Amino acid sequence: MRAFVLPAARSTPVFAEVAAVPPADDEVTVRVEASSVNAFDLAVLDGRLRSLEHRYPVILGRDFAGVVTAAGAGVRRFAAGDRVFGMTARPYVGDGAFCEQLTVPAAAPDEATWMAALPDPIGMQDGGALATAAVAAVRAVTAMRPRPGWAALVVGASGGVGSYAVQLLARAGARVTAVTRTERGAAHLRDLGVHDVLTEAPAGRDLRYDVVLHLGGEVRRAAGCVVPGGRLVSLLHAGPADAGRPDVDVRSVLGRPDLGVLNDLAQDVAAGRLAVPRTDTFAFADLPAALRAVRAGTPGKVSVRMGKP
Ligand SMILES: NC(=O)c1ccc[n+]([C@@H]2O[C@H](COP(=O)([O-])OP(=O)(O)OC[C@H]3O[C@@H](n4cnc5c(N)ncnc54)[C@H](OP(=O)(O)O)[C@@H]3O)[C@@H](O)[C@H]2O)c1
Repeated sequence: MRAFVLPAARSTPVFAEVAAVPPADDEVTVRVEASSVNAFDLAVLDGRLRSLEHRYPVILGRDFAGVVTAAGAGVRRFAAGDRVFGMTARPYVGDGAFCEQLTVPAAAPDEATWMAALPDPIGMQDGGALATAAVAAVRAVTAMRPRPGWAALVVGASGGVGSYAVQLLARAGARVTAVTRTERGAAHLRDLGVHDVLTEAPAGRDLRYDVVLHLGGEVRRAAGCVVPGGRLVSLLHAGPADAGRPDVDVRSVLGRPDLGVLNDLAQDVAAGRLAVPRTDTFAFADLPAALRAVRAGTPGKVSVRMGKP
Protein backbone atom coordinates (compact mmCIF):
# COMPACT_ATOMS: atom_id res chain seq x y z
CA MET A 1 0.00 0.00 0.00
CA ARG A 2 1.03 3.62 -0.40
CA ALA A 3 2.10 5.51 2.69
CA PHE A 4 3.75 8.82 3.49
CA VAL A 5 6.86 7.90 5.45
CA LEU A 6 10.00 9.18 7.08
CA PRO A 7 12.54 6.58 5.84
CA ALA A 8 15.13 7.29 8.56
CA ALA A 9 16.04 9.81 11.24
CA ARG A 10 16.73 13.28 9.82
CA SER A 11 15.42 12.25 6.38
CA THR A 12 12.87 13.91 4.12
CA PRO A 13 9.38 12.35 4.05
CA VAL A 14 8.43 10.51 0.84
CA PHE A 15 5.60 8.41 -0.56
CA ALA A 16 6.60 4.75 -0.40
CA GLU A 17 5.14 1.31 -0.92
CA VAL A 18 4.92 -0.51 2.44
CA ALA A 19 3.39 -3.84 3.41
CA ALA A 20 -0.14 -3.67 4.85
CA VAL A 21 -0.32 -5.36 8.26
CA PRO A 22 -3.08 -7.96 8.76
CA PRO A 23 -4.99 -7.48 12.03
CA ALA A 24 -3.97 -9.51 15.09
CA ASP A 25 -6.75 -11.01 17.24
CA ASP A 26 -7.33 -7.70 19.06
CA GLU A 27 -6.95 -5.40 16.06
CA VAL A 28 -8.91 -4.09 13.10
CA THR A 29 -7.78 -2.85 9.72
CA VAL A 30 -9.30 0.40 8.51
CA ARG A 31 -9.37 1.68 4.93
CA VAL A 32 -8.34 5.26 5.63
CA GLU A 33 -10.53 7.74 3.79
CA ALA A 34 -9.61 10.96 5.57
CA SER A 35 -6.97 12.38 7.87
CA SER A 36 -5.71 15.78 8.97
CA VAL A 37 -2.47 17.45 9.98
CA ASN A 38 -1.66 17.95 13.67
CA ALA A 39 1.11 19.80 15.48
CA PHE A 40 2.27 16.29 16.48
CA ASP A 41 3.07 15.46 12.83
CA LEU A 42 5.23 18.56 12.45
CA ALA A 43 7.01 17.74 15.72
CA VAL A 44 7.87 14.25 14.40
CA LEU A 45 9.09 15.71 11.09
CA ASP A 46 11.23 18.28 12.88
CA GLY A 47 12.82 15.64 15.12
CA ARG A 48 11.37 17.22 18.26
CA LEU A 49 10.02 13.89 19.59
CA ARG A 50 13.24 11.87 19.40
CA SER A 51 12.86 10.94 23.07
CA LEU A 52 10.08 8.58 21.88
CA GLU A 53 10.93 5.31 20.15
CA HIS A 54 10.71 5.66 16.34
CA ARG A 55 10.20 2.58 14.14
CA TYR A 56 11.44 3.28 10.63
CA PRO A 57 10.15 3.70 8.08
CA VAL A 58 7.91 5.89 10.23
CA ILE A 59 4.45 6.17 8.66
CA LEU A 60 3.42 9.71 9.59
CA GLY A 61 -0.05 10.92 10.57
CA ARG A 62 -2.22 10.52 13.63
CA ASP A 63 -5.90 11.19 12.88
CA PHE A 64 -8.03 8.92 10.72
CA ALA A 65 -11.55 8.26 9.56
CA GLY A 66 -12.49 5.33 7.38
CA VAL A 67 -14.19 1.98 7.05
CA VAL A 68 -13.25 -1.25 8.84
CA THR A 69 -12.18 -3.84 6.27
CA ALA A 70 -11.09 -6.70 8.59
CA ALA A 71 -11.40 -7.49 12.30
CA GLY A 72 -9.34 -9.91 14.43
CA ALA A 73 -11.03 -12.90 16.05
CA GLY A 74 -11.14 -11.22 19.49
CA VAL A 75 -12.78 -7.99 18.33
CA ARG A 76 -16.45 -7.66 19.28
CA ARG A 77 -16.99 -3.91 19.05
CA PHE A 78 -16.32 -3.47 15.32
CA ALA A 79 -16.98 -5.43 12.16
CA ALA A 80 -16.16 -5.06 8.49
CA GLY A 81 -18.14 -2.18 6.99
CA ASP A 82 -18.27 -0.04 10.16
CA ARG A 83 -17.49 3.66 9.78
CA VAL A 84 -14.92 4.70 12.42
CA PHE A 85 -12.68 7.57 13.44
CA GLY A 86 -9.87 8.02 15.93
CA MET A 87 -6.15 8.42 16.33
CA THR A 88 -3.27 5.98 16.10
CA ALA A 89 -2.53 4.40 19.44
CA ARG A 90 0.92 2.85 19.47
CA PRO A 91 3.41 3.44 22.30
CA TYR A 92 6.00 4.35 19.64
CA VAL A 93 6.13 6.66 16.63
CA GLY A 94 5.66 4.61 13.50
CA ASP A 95 2.40 3.10 12.36
CA GLY A 96 0.67 6.38 11.55
CA ALA A 97 -2.46 7.22 9.59
CA PHE A 98 -1.05 8.69 6.35
CA CYS A 99 -1.56 5.39 4.53
CA GLU A 100 -4.24 3.43 2.71
CA GLN A 101 -4.77 0.60 5.23
CA LEU A 102 -4.29 1.21 8.95
CA THR A 103 -4.22 -1.60 11.51
CA VAL A 104 -5.05 -0.50 15.08
CA PRO A 105 -5.93 -2.07 18.46
CA ALA A 106 -9.70 -2.31 18.93
CA ALA A 107 -10.54 -5.28 21.12
CA ALA A 108 -11.87 -3.62 24.24
CA PRO A 109 -12.99 -0.16 25.34
CA ASP A 110 -9.87 0.46 27.38
CA GLU A 111 -7.26 3.16 27.18
CA ALA A 112 -5.54 1.52 24.22
CA THR A 113 -8.70 1.89 22.16
CA TRP A 114 -8.58 5.28 20.58
CA MET A 115 -11.21 4.60 17.96
CA ALA A 116 -14.99 5.04 17.96
CA ALA A 117 -17.92 4.66 15.61
CA LEU A 118 -18.41 7.57 13.22
CA PRO A 119 -22.15 8.37 13.11
CA ASP A 120 -23.68 8.55 9.63
CA PRO A 121 -24.37 12.30 9.61
CA ILE A 122 -20.64 13.05 9.96
CA GLY A 123 -18.70 13.06 6.70
CA MET A 124 -15.33 11.31 6.47
CA GLN A 125 -13.38 14.59 6.13
CA ASP A 126 -14.89 15.90 9.36
CA GLY A 127 -14.25 12.55 11.07
CA GLY A 128 -10.59 12.71 10.07
CA ALA A 129 -10.19 16.19 11.56
CA LEU A 130 -11.70 15.40 14.93
CA ALA A 131 -9.82 13.11 17.29
CA THR A 132 -6.44 14.60 18.23
CA ALA A 133 -7.30 18.31 18.40
CA ALA A 134 -10.82 17.95 19.78
CA VAL A 135 -9.82 15.48 22.50
CA ALA A 136 -6.98 17.79 23.57
CA ALA A 137 -9.47 20.67 23.68
CA VAL A 138 -11.88 18.64 25.83
CA ARG A 139 -9.11 17.69 28.26
CA ALA A 140 -7.91 21.29 28.49
CA VAL A 141 -11.34 22.86 28.92
CA THR A 142 -12.31 20.23 31.51
CA ALA A 143 -9.19 21.16 33.50
CA MET A 144 -10.07 24.88 33.21
CA ARG A 145 -13.42 24.18 34.94
CA PRO A 146 -15.05 27.30 33.46
CA ARG A 147 -18.21 28.69 35.07
CA PRO A 148 -20.95 30.66 33.31
CA GLY A 149 -19.96 34.31 33.07
CA TRP A 150 -16.25 33.72 33.68
CA ALA A 151 -13.77 35.52 31.44
CA ALA A 152 -11.70 32.96 29.51
CA LEU A 153 -8.63 33.73 27.38
CA VAL A 154 -7.26 31.28 24.80
CA VAL A 155 -3.70 32.05 23.66
CA GLY A 156 -2.81 30.33 20.37
CA ALA A 157 -6.50 30.03 19.57
CA SER A 158 -6.51 29.84 15.78
CA GLY A 159 -5.06 26.30 15.51
CA GLY A 160 -6.87 22.99 15.66
CA VAL A 161 -7.05 22.68 19.44
CA GLY A 162 -7.94 26.34 19.94
CA SER A 163 -10.70 26.20 17.33
CA TYR A 164 -12.41 23.43 19.30
CA ALA A 165 -11.60 24.95 22.72
CA VAL A 166 -13.25 28.32 22.00
CA GLN A 167 -16.47 26.50 21.10
CA LEU A 168 -16.39 24.32 24.23
CA LEU A 169 -15.72 27.33 26.47
CA ALA A 170 -18.59 29.27 24.91
CA ARG A 171 -20.89 26.29 25.45
CA ALA A 172 -19.86 26.27 29.12
CA GLY A 173 -21.07 29.88 29.33
CA ALA A 174 -17.65 31.56 29.52
CA ARG A 175 -17.00 34.93 27.90
CA VAL A 176 -14.27 33.97 25.43
CA THR A 177 -11.39 36.13 24.24
CA ALA A 178 -9.01 34.60 21.69
CA VAL A 179 -5.42 35.52 20.83
CA THR A 180 -4.04 34.98 17.32
CA ARG A 181 -1.17 36.80 15.65
CA THR A 182 -2.68 36.88 12.18
CA GLU A 183 -5.64 38.54 10.48
CA ARG A 184 -6.47 35.19 8.86
CA GLY A 185 -6.61 33.60 12.31
CA ALA A 186 -8.82 36.41 13.57
CA ALA A 187 -11.28 36.02 10.69
CA HIS A 188 -11.39 32.25 11.31
CA LEU A 189 -12.12 32.74 15.02
CA ARG A 190 -14.86 35.27 14.30
CA ASP A 191 -16.41 32.68 11.95
CA LEU A 192 -16.47 30.32 14.94
CA GLY A 193 -18.43 32.91 16.91
CA VAL A 194 -15.65 34.54 18.95
CA HIS A 195 -16.33 38.28 19.26
CA ASP A 196 -13.22 39.32 21.19
CA VAL A 197 -10.08 38.58 19.23
CA LEU A 198 -6.70 40.07 20.18
CA THR A 199 -3.41 40.04 18.28
CA GLU A 200 -1.33 39.44 21.41
CA ALA A 201 -1.88 38.37 24.99
CA PRO A 202 -2.69 41.52 26.98
CA ALA A 203 0.21 42.64 29.17
CA GLY A 204 -1.43 45.19 31.50
CA ARG A 205 -2.98 44.49 34.88
CA ASP A 206 -6.30 45.98 33.87
CA LEU A 207 -7.29 43.08 31.62
CA ARG A 208 -7.37 39.90 33.69
CA TYR A 209 -9.04 36.57 33.01
CA ASP A 210 -10.47 33.94 35.36
CA VAL A 211 -9.10 31.09 33.26
CA VAL A 212 -6.42 31.07 30.55
CA LEU A 213 -5.62 28.31 28.07
CA HIS A 214 -2.02 28.34 26.85
CA LEU A 215 -1.60 26.80 23.36
CA GLY A 216 1.19 28.97 21.95
CA GLY A 217 3.77 31.61 22.82
CA GLU A 218 5.40 32.44 26.15
CA VAL A 219 3.67 30.88 29.15
CA ARG A 220 4.74 33.78 31.40
CA ARG A 221 2.97 36.17 29.11
CA ALA A 222 -0.17 34.03 29.22
CA ALA A 223 0.12 33.62 33.01
CA GLY A 224 0.28 37.40 33.36
CA CYS A 225 -3.31 37.56 32.14
CA VAL A 226 -4.80 35.45 34.96
CA VAL A 227 -6.57 37.02 37.96
CA PRO A 228 -4.98 36.18 41.33
CA GLY A 229 -6.49 32.86 42.40
CA GLY A 230 -7.41 32.04 38.79
CA ARG A 231 -6.29 29.08 36.71
CA LEU A 232 -3.96 28.54 33.76
CA VAL A 233 -4.02 25.32 31.76
CA SER A 234 -1.19 24.54 29.35
CA LEU A 235 -1.01 21.91 26.62
CA LEU A 236 2.65 22.82 26.11
CA HIS A 237 3.94 21.04 29.23
CA ALA A 238 4.31 24.32 31.16
CA GLY A 239 4.06 23.92 34.92
CA PRO A 240 3.95 26.25 37.93
CA ALA A 241 7.70 26.98 37.86
CA ASP A 242 7.51 28.03 34.18
CA ALA A 243 4.51 30.28 34.69
CA GLY A 244 6.06 32.32 37.52
CA ARG A 245 2.67 33.00 39.18
CA PRO A 246 2.52 31.35 42.62
CA ASP A 247 -0.92 32.93 43.11
CA VAL A 248 -2.36 31.05 40.10
CA ASP A 249 -3.41 27.39 39.78
CA VAL A 250 -1.21 26.20 36.89
CA ARG A 251 -1.94 22.84 35.30
CA SER A 252 -0.27 21.00 32.44
CA VAL A 253 -2.64 18.57 30.72
CA LEU A 254 -2.29 15.86 28.07
CA GLY A 255 -4.72 15.13 25.27
CA ARG A 256 -5.30 11.51 26.32
CA PRO A 257 -8.41 10.11 24.66
CA ASP A 258 -10.82 7.50 25.84
CA LEU A 259 -13.85 5.97 24.27
CA GLY A 260 -16.30 8.16 26.22
CA VAL A 261 -14.68 11.39 25.03
CA LEU A 262 -14.57 10.20 21.41
CA ASN A 263 -18.23 9.12 21.53
CA ASP A 264 -19.33 12.42 23.11
CA LEU A 265 -17.46 14.39 20.44
CA ALA A 266 -19.09 12.38 17.68
CA GLN A 267 -22.55 12.97 19.19
CA ASP A 268 -21.88 16.71 19.54
CA VAL A 269 -20.75 17.03 15.92
CA ALA A 270 -23.62 14.88 14.64
CA ALA A 271 -26.13 17.03 16.57
CA GLY A 272 -24.59 20.30 15.32
CA ARG A 273 -23.42 21.36 18.81
CA LEU A 274 -19.76 21.39 17.74
CA ALA A 275 -18.35 22.50 14.39
CA VAL A 276 -15.36 20.74 12.87
CA PRO A 277 -13.14 23.75 12.03
CA ARG A 278 -11.89 22.50 8.66
CA THR A 279 -10.38 25.30 6.60
CA ASP A 280 -8.60 23.51 3.73
CA THR A 281 -8.55 20.04 2.19
CA PHE A 282 -5.67 18.46 0.27
CA ALA A 283 -5.48 15.20 -1.70
CA PHE A 284 -3.22 12.44 -0.30
CA ALA A 285 -0.75 13.14 -3.15
CA ASP A 286 -0.55 16.75 -1.97
CA LEU A 287 0.36 15.93 1.65
CA PRO A 288 3.64 17.88 1.41
CA ALA A 289 1.58 20.95 0.47
CA ALA A 290 -0.80 20.28 3.38
CA LEU A 291 2.14 20.22 5.79
CA ARG A 292 3.48 23.45 4.29
CA ALA A 293 0.05 25.06 4.67
CA VAL A 294 0.00 24.23 8.39
CA ARG A 295 3.54 25.55 8.83
CA ALA A 296 2.51 28.74 7.04
CA GLY A 297 -0.19 29.30 9.66
CA THR A 298 -3.39 28.10 7.98
CA PRO A 299 -5.90 28.35 10.83
CA GLY A 300 -8.23 25.57 11.98
CA LYS A 301 -7.86 22.01 10.74
CA VAL A 302 -6.10 21.19 7.47
CA SER A 303 -7.75 18.05 6.17
CA VAL A 304 -6.38 15.30 3.90
CA ARG A 305 -8.51 13.26 1.49
CA MET A 306 -6.96 9.79 1.48
CA GLY A 307 -7.13 7.07 -1.18
CA LYS A 308 -4.68 6.40 -4.00
CA PRO A 309 -2.06 9.18 -4.05
N1 LIG B 1 0.20 17.72 25.26
C1 LIG B 1 -0.72 17.19 24.45
O1 LIG B 1 -1.27 16.09 24.69
C2 LIG B 1 -1.12 17.96 23.23
C3 LIG B 1 -2.18 17.52 22.42
C4 LIG B 1 -2.54 18.30 21.32
C5 LIG B 1 -1.82 19.47 21.07
N2 LIG B 1 -0.80 19.84 21.86
C6 LIG B 1 -0.04 21.07 21.60
O2 LIG B 1 -0.94 22.15 21.69
C7 LIG B 1 -0.55 23.18 20.76
C8 LIG B 1 -1.74 23.55 19.90
O3 LIG B 1 -2.05 22.45 19.06
P1 LIG B 1 -2.72 22.71 17.65
O4 LIG B 1 -2.95 21.40 17.03
O5 LIG B 1 -3.85 23.64 17.81
O6 LIG B 1 -1.52 23.44 16.91
P2 LIG B 1 -1.60 24.45 15.69
O7 LIG B 1 -2.80 24.11 14.87
O8 LIG B 1 -0.26 24.41 15.07
O9 LIG B 1 -1.86 25.86 16.40
C9 LIG B 1 -0.87 26.46 17.15
C10 LIG B 1 -1.36 27.82 17.61
O10 LIG B 1 -0.34 28.42 18.39
C11 LIG B 1 -0.13 29.76 17.96
N3 LIG B 1 1.31 30.03 18.07
C12 LIG B 1 2.31 29.33 17.54
N4 LIG B 1 3.49 29.89 17.87
C13 LIG B 1 3.19 30.97 18.63
C14 LIG B 1 3.97 31.97 19.27
N5 LIG B 1 5.30 31.96 19.22
N6 LIG B 1 3.33 32.94 19.95
C15 LIG B 1 1.98 32.97 20.04
N7 LIG B 1 1.19 32.05 19.45
C16 LIG B 1 1.79 31.06 18.76
C17 LIG B 1 -0.66 29.84 16.56
O11 LIG B 1 -1.35 31.06 16.51
P3 LIG B 1 -1.30 32.21 15.40
O12 LIG B 1 -2.72 32.31 14.93
O13 LIG B 1 -0.88 33.37 16.21
O14 LIG B 1 -0.31 31.82 14.34
C18 LIG B 1 -1.70 28.73 16.49
O15 LIG B 1 -2.98 29.25 16.80
C19 LIG B 1 0.62 22.60 19.94
O16 LIG B 1 1.84 23.09 20.45
C20 LIG B 1 0.52 21.10 20.18
O17 LIG B 1 1.78 20.47 20.11
C21 LIG B 1 -0.43 19.13 22.94
